[in-house]
Amino acid sequence: MAGLIPQAFIDELLERSDIVEVIQRRVSLKKAGREFAACCPFHGEKTPSFYVSPQKQFYHCFGCGAHGTAISFLMEYENLSFPEAIEQLADQAGLEVPRETDGDDRREAHAPLYDALNAAAQWYVQQLRQTPKAVEYLKNRGIDGATARDYQIGWAPPSGLIETLKPRFTPQQLVDAGLAARRDDGGIRERFRSRIMFPIRDRRGRITGFGGRLIEDGEPKYLNSPESEVFHKGQTIYGLFEARKAGTRLDDIVVVEGYMDVVGLARAGFRRAVACMGTALTRAHLDSLFRQVSRITLCFDGDAAGRRAAWRSLAEALPAIQGLREVRVLFLPEGDDPDSLVLRDGLADWEERLAGALPLSETLVRLQRDEHPTDTAEGRTRFAHAAMKLVATTRDPLFRDQLVERIGQETGLSPERLEQVLAEQPTPLGRAADTGPDRDLPATSQENRGGANGETPPALWGALLARVLQHPELDWNQPEFRQLVELPGVAATTLRDLLAALEENPDRHTAGLLERFREQRHFQRLMALAHQELEDGEEAVTRQTALDCARQLLRQHYRSRIRELTRPGSELGTEQRAELARLTEQLQRFDAPR
Ligand code: UTP
Ligand code: MN
Repeated sequence: MAGLIPQAFIDELLERSDIVEVIQRRVSLKKAGREFAACCPFHGEKTPSFYVSPQKQFYHCFGCGAHGTAISFLMEYENLSFPEAIEQLADQAGLEVPRETDGDDRREAHAPLYDALNAAAQWYVQQLRQTPKAVEYLKNRGIDGATARDYQIGWAPPSGLIETLKPRFTPQQLVDAGLAARRDDGGIRERFRSRIMFPIRDRRGRITGFGGRLIEDGEPKYLNSPESEVFHKGQTIYGLFEARKAGTRLDDIVVVEGYMDVVGLARAGFRRAVACMGTALTRAHLDSLFRQVSRITLCFDGDAAGRRAAWRSLAEALPAIQGLREVRVLFLPEGDDPDSLVLRDGLADWEERLAGALPLSETLVRLQRDEHPTDTAEGRTRFAHAAMKLVATTRDPLFRDQLVERIGQETGLSPERLEQVLAEQPTPLGRAADTGPDRDLPATSQENRGGANGETPPALWGALLARVLQHPELDWNQPEFRQLVELPGVAATTLRDLLAALEENPDRHTAGLLERFREQRHFQRLMALAHQELEDGEEAVTRQTALDCARQLLRQHYRSRIRELTRPGSELGTEQRAELARLTEQLQRFDAPR
């Protein structure tokens, strides 16, 4: 609902607030050069790796990778929604938050949905007590009363929910909450019938949806709530709230596949398991887990489906590794899952298995080796190419060096040679393309894929945008940049918005620029660019590097457009011929020796 708060107000608010002050009130900061440092409030650590920059009005933790503006900090630290964070910041700055429309706040608009979901969960729990066959089912699966209570497990009978909730909620509210579905005749029917119910809670413990399991054979075995205003599968992690509530400090988290795995492990005394509810692990899942812990273990079945899932997760996890963050992978014996293992072999055996999980680097090697056996020169060549494409998606330079070293051992190629291969085939930053058997990876990453013609390497755009974002004080009003913003694609549009914002107010800082993009798909990507380490040293180098990127991008664009226009068989109209002449001239200007 950020749209309701005028952008101009957010700009003003950021100008009037100081991130150092905002954070200092909650975390004790020490001056460190031009920045301030502290032990990171988002993960456990003994030496400070959390830095706050007054220039950029931005914070960044080198340990867990947390980063953002004053608004992001309040959202993360205080668990606030965007409008709530704005309210707080405004309060401190002594400003009143204006609303563009009737001021109907997201929280209020959604309150009935949370209430309905909560009421349903309570009713399901009650129903479980009165349904011996459901209790019996859980008992047979080793779930005791205490665990059922902790996870608020319930039973949805064949009917009765709508009757029960009717006096308090409208049919539309029940549909919006995902508890009921519309019938063809316009009436509603219960979504969950004859199922064991697992409520799914968000970080604040509010129920946002359910998973329901049949206790007899049937399809689908599990039914989940549909996406709704409050339930977003790609961002929700089952069991995270319960794991945090379990008390002891979380140092690591284990990601398993199913509800029953989480609950079964908890019953056995292992309270650090969470699940992504049948969806593939996304970068958003990883980032949110890394805000809690620095070590994550991913569990996969030993079968083909498990390996496919591991491939996807590998591609998502590589770019997420930074500093102290660690991902390890545990392949389970075929035919078993964590729930069945811990039930049969006990807690100690489970802990032992976990201790033997493979580091991400070894997982990469193992998955690649399955795909490209390294017993022939050809196999090693394919291995090297495919593995280096994955390496290209990493962000931590030390991790990258280690990976290259490891791939060298596996293929007999020197790290220098391998790096050379990378330099020759630029892949989109932060995205593993064509690296596994699973080529149709869902586009979960918020990458900017460059120009519409798909030829501009996002790396160049990334380098350029990073510099503009990090150095709003430089003069970016130059012909190259003005030409660039005319190009197709998100990156060009972003640059246009950035330059326009700076023109409007040249004093804007990094955070002020970033906050204009919060609602856009590539916001996370821009945040990452805003704190990416630039090794420019001097201002002049920053400006020159950005200019070089701009020229390179323009050159590529002109070339590809010329290629398009001069494709054999294409008939050019007068307009196109004029365009071709203009492009050729521009290109010559670029290619001319300086
Ligand atoms: P599994 O089929 O591995 O089930 O699905 P499970 O977790 O081992 O459950 P039990 O032991 O048979 O009770 C793993 C996860 O995939 C999602 C659910 O989130 C489930 O926990 N799933 C599975 C569905 O959403 N729908 C289905 O029909 C099946
Ligand atoms: Mn199972």
